[in-house]
Amino acid sequence: MNLILFGPPGAGKGTQAKRLQDAYGIVQLSTGDMLRAAAASGSELGKQVKDIMESGGLVPDDLIINMISARIDEKDCEKGFILDGFPRTTPQAEALDRMLIEKSLKIDNVVEMKVDDEAMVERIGGRFTCAGCGAGYHDSFQKPQKTGVCDTCGGTEFTRRADDNADTVRSRLKAYNEQTAPISAYYAEKGVLKSVDGMAAIDEVTRQIKKIVG
Ligand code: AP5
Repeated sequence: MNLILFGPPGAGKGTQAKRLQDAYGIVQLSTGDMLRAAAASGSELGKQVKDIMESGGLVPDDLIINMISARIDEKDCEKGFILDGFPRTTPQAEALDRMLIEKSLKIDNVVEMKVDDEAMVERIGGRFTCAGCGAGYHDSFQKPQKTGVCDTCGGTEFTRRADDNADTVRSRLKAYNEQTAPISAYYAEKGVLKSVDGMAAIDEVTRQIKKIVG
C-alpha cells in the first residue's frame, strides 16, 4: 500500500505517518526529515538546502525528486510507503507519476488533512521531538507521560526545529498556499483524493485515515 499524506505545515502529517507506519508495516518517507538529516550531516546536499529550509522556502524540485526516487528503490519500501511532505509542487506531482510508472508502482490513496491556519501556528509553536529516537510531542496536545522523559526510549534530551518560529511559519504557509495547495485539484481530477478532519483529536484523525485506507 502506497499513500500520500497531504496538508499544510502542522497539519499532523508526521504524527499520523508514524502511526500508520506502525499499524501497517509500511515506511514513512518524510522529505523534511531527509533534508534535515542531510543538513545536520553537513553533506553537499545539506549545505544546499539548509538556508532555504530555515527561510521557509521550498527546496528545488530536481533535488527532491532525485532524493525520493532513490529512497523508494530501497528494500524497506517494498511493502509500501507513506509520502509525507512530497509532492509539494505540481512539477513534483507530475514527476512522481512518471517515476511510479517506471517503477511499476502506484499510489492507492491521497489523504488530505484539512486544518485552520490558527491551529497550525499553535501546533508548530508547541512542537518538540525526542533527540534520541525522534518521537514527536507537543506542549499542550501530546505531552510525554512523565515530564521531560520520552515515552518511547526514555531519553531526556529534546529538540525544537529551527524553522518552527513565527516568521518562518508564515513563509511556510505562504509557500504552501501558493505552490502546494493546487496539487489537491490535481489529485481530485484523478479521483484518488480523500480528506479527513485534521482539526479532530489525534486518535480520531488516525481512525478516519484507517477507514479510508482499509
Ligand atoms: P516538512 O518537514 O515537511 O514540514 P511541513 O510540511 O511544514 O510539515 P510539518 O512537519 O511542520 O508538520 P506536520 O504536518 O508533519 O505536523 P506534525 O505531525 O509534526 O518540511 C520542512 C521544510 O523542508 C520545508 O519548509 C521545505 O523547505 C523543505 N521541504 C520538505 N519537503 C519538500 C518538498 N517536497 N519540496 C521542497 N521543499 C521541501 O504536527 C505538528 C504538531 O501538532 C506536533 O507537535 C503534534 O504533536 C501536534 N498535532 C498533530 N496532530 C494533532 C491533532 N490532531 N491535534 C492536536 N495536535 C496535533
